[in-house]
Amino acid sequence: MTMTTDRWNADQYLKFSGPRFRPGLDLLGHVPVEAPGRIVDIGCGTGDLTLAIQARWPEARITGMDMSADMLAKARKHGAAIDWVQADLTRWQPAEPVDLVYSNAVLQWLPDHPAIFAHLTGMLAGGGALAVQMPRNFDAPSHVLMRETAAEPRWRERLAGVLREDPVAGPDAYYALLSDLGFSHIDIWETEYQHVLTGDDPVLEWVKGTALTPVFAVLDGEDRAAFIADYAAKLRRTYVRRPDGVTLFPFRRIFLVARR
Ligand SMILES: C[S@@+](CC[C@H](N)C(=O)[O-])C[C@H]1O[C@@H](n2cnc3c(N)ncnc32)[C@H](O)[C@@H]1O
Repeated sequence: MTMTTDRWNADQYLKFSGPRFRPGLDLLGHVPVEAPGRIVDIGCGTGDLTLAIQARWPEARITGMDMSADMLAKARKHGAAIDWVQADLTRWQPAEPVDLVYSNAVLQWLPDHPAIFAHLTGMLAGGGALAVQMPRNFDAPSHVLMRETAAEPRWRERLAGVLREDPVAGPDAYYALLSDLGFSHIDIWETEYQHVLTGDDPVLEWVKGTALTPVFAVLDGEDRAAFIADYAAKLRRTYVRRPDGVTLFPFRRIFLVARR
C-alpha cells in the first residue's frame, strides 16, 4: 500500500452522500458501547461519519485516520474537534489503546483480512469493540460488468489483476476470525440496500467514486473515456431507469460488530 498515489476524489464520492452514509449510520447504531473514552475511525474518508460518531459520544477523544489527502482535506473542513491523521492503516497504531475501532466501507480494499483484523483488534483496550462494514456485492452486475469490460482484448493486458473478484468473505469466515481473535459477543448481519438513484447513468456515477477508481489509476484520457462508454452501455441495459426517473441500485453489505 502506498501513500504516493491518491486515486480518491471526495467530490465524486459525495455525489451520493445520503445513500453512501446510510450503512455507516446503521453500523454506528448497533455499537454496544456506552461511553467510549477513545475512538478511532479507520479510513474515515470525508469525515462525515466521524462527525456522526462524535455526535453520539461528544465526550470521546476521536481520531479519524485515512490514507487519502483529498478525502482528509474534506474531513478537516468540518472544523470539528477530531484528530485527523494521514496514514496507511496497515502500519498505523493509535498512541493509546482505544475503546472502539470503527471502520466503514474500507477493509474491502485490502487483502489478508486475518492480518488486518488482528491488527485492528490489537488497537483495542480491554472490553473494547470493533465495528466494521464492507460491501459484499462483488457478484452484482455493477461489478461483474466492470470485470467483463476490463477483460476485453483492448484492456485485458493493462487491467490484469486490477479488479479483485471476491475481496470480502462470507459471514462464516468472519465469525471464525473474530472468535479466534477472542471476541465473545459477535453480531453479524447482512443488508441489501435498494439505493434510489436519480440522474443520468447513476450506477456509473456511483462506482466512479469507489469501485472504478483502480481502473482510473491505470487508464486516463481517451482510454478512460472509451472504457467508460463501453461499461456505461452495459450498465444501462441492466439498471433500467424507471418512468419516474429513478434507477434502483441493489447493494449488499456485511456488518460485523464484536466485543471482548
Ligand atoms: C469508500 S471510502 C469510505 C470512507 C468513509 N469511511 C465512509 O464510509 O464514508 C474508503 C476510504 O478508505 C481509505 N483507505 C483505503 N485503503 C486505506 C489504507 N490502507 N489506509 C488508510 N485508509 C485507506 C480511502 O482513502 C478512502 O477514504
